[in-house]
Amino acid sequence: MTTPQPTGRFSVAPEELARQEEYAALVETVLQSRYPDRKPLAFIHTYGCQGNVADGEKIKGILCSLGFALTEDLQSADFILYNTCAIREHAQDRVFGNVGKLKPIKAQKKDLIIALCGCMMQQDYVAEKIKKSYPYVDLVFGTHVIHKLPEFLYRILCGGKRVFDLSGGDGNIVEGLPVHRDGTFKAWLPIMYGCNNFCSYCVVPYVRGRERSRDFDVIVNEARHLIAQGYKEITLLGQNVNSYNKDKPEQYRFPALLRAINDIEGDFWIRFMTSHPRDCSKALLDAMADCSKVAKHLHLPFQSGNDRVLQEMNRHYDRAKYLSLIDYAYQKMPGLSITSDVIVGFPGETDEEFEDTLSLVAQVNYTSLFTFIFSPRPGTKAAAMDDPTPKEEKTRRFQKLTALQEQIAGARTAAMKGKTFRVLVEEPAKEDGFLSGRTQGNVIIEFPGSSDLIGTFQDVTVTEPKTWILKGELAEETNRT
Ligand code: SAH
Ligand code: SF4
Ligand code: F3S
Repeated sequence: MTTPQPTGRFSVAPEELARQEEYAALVETVLQSRYPDRKPLAFIHTYGCQGNVADGEKIKGILCSLGFALTEDLQSADFILYNTCAIREHAQDRVFGNVGKLKPIKAQKKDLIIALCGCMMQQDYVAEKIKKSYPYVDLVFGTHVIHKLPEFLYRILCGGKRVFDLSGGDGNIVEGLPVHRDGTFKAWLPIMYGCNNFCSYCVVPYVRGRERSRDFDVIVNEARHLIAQGYKEITLLGQNVNSYNKDKPEQYRFPALLRAINDIEGDFWIRFMTSHPRDCSKALLDAMADCSKVAKHLHLPFQSGNDRVLQEMNRHYDRAKYLSLIDYAYQKMPGLSITSDVIVGFPGETDEEFEDTLSLVAQVNYTSLFTFIFSPRPGTKAAAMDDPTPKEEKTRRFQKLTALQEQIAGARTAAMKGKTFRVLVEEPAKEDGFLSGRTQGNVIIEFPGSSDLIGTFQDVTVTEPKTWILKGELAEETNRT
């Protein structure tokens, strides 16, 4: 493993990391004797947000440094790990379902190690359920102890007992872990961990611990390194990026971080998520407008358009404040693309209150929305609230909202016809001979082209706009929007 660089009050003691290095050496030796002719194979699947994906990349980095090779084939794996998400009940149900399917695989393959980690495990009732009802799961660990993976593996390989470690509830920052990035031109770059907001519906503060920011210079250096390696898009991650280094002077805060990364030489885009409207400042929108490499896309979740509901959600802003931010953002960046998250059917939400959500959606003119039906999360304040609205009514509201957004998105994409956009070419599209590119504003355009364009920026003219996926062709000359 690489040399750790601990920083700040949340950092893990260097002695602890040194101890893990010792375990890593032992695990490597044990694995070599257990698999003398080949590398053991690890199958890792991550659920949930990009923050969890970034954790998954660290886990993969550690496993590769221990001598594992990664596989996409569950059946041939010697180590299977699900990195889980707890945000909605549905997300958890899927995990339980998939873990259930591992039972026969384990029965046939005694040496197989099955592990579960991530946000879902950080809830006591889930860990208990795994302990009791899934005896073939060997390892369960939480979101604060990823760096202890070498020790966990050592204990399983040499002790043969199940390992459960859900310690470290306040969270920490571990620098210097190896990272195995899934992408070669798009990179996730966490800038902070945890959340202090306690929105009344949300499980994240409970499973991710207190908010803590990575060191400014460590982040800028990592960005510089990624760009030198050829990455074309860097997404800065945090549950509430606007409160990055909020106790520090302005020159260390989020707008300054954006400006510092923007100053790095090279042709690349900077994205970030998620912004919380309470902490989204004019300084941030000014920095976005000033920085040519920051994609003109703002993901600003509003959750509800009604002030009473927002208050019950503990969001600390109201409709007027949200809309004034949007006004300022459009004023500074006329072509800005705005996306958002919305919750439908929060406990006690009336039909009139839901109408306020619809009117806000119509007013803002979003590019796209992530829409969710409220899911009660055990232990959160909202889970204990009276929720008299029937499921069918919530589904009706949900459909009404998605229909409205579809109409808005349709009008937006129709207006893109004939215009040329710079896209980062991401992958082959479903249709043969077509590629899929993403605009700064987070809109996908598919166009004919050869796969060697993947990972490059191209100018594409929209020829056939559909609501979600637009068709286009490589532009002859640049008339870029
Ligand atoms: N930190 C981000 C959100 C992270 S969770 C923010 O505050 O904007 C992503 C989205 O999941 C949230 O914005 C919210 O819309 C949704 N969500 C969170 N908890 C939920 C719940 N209990 N039920 C339904 N949707 C939920
Ligand atoms: Fe959850 Fe709110 Fe924190 Fe976002 S800001 S992660 S919604 S508690
Ligand atoms: Fe899910 Fe945890 Fe992210 S609950 S959304 S994986 S922070």
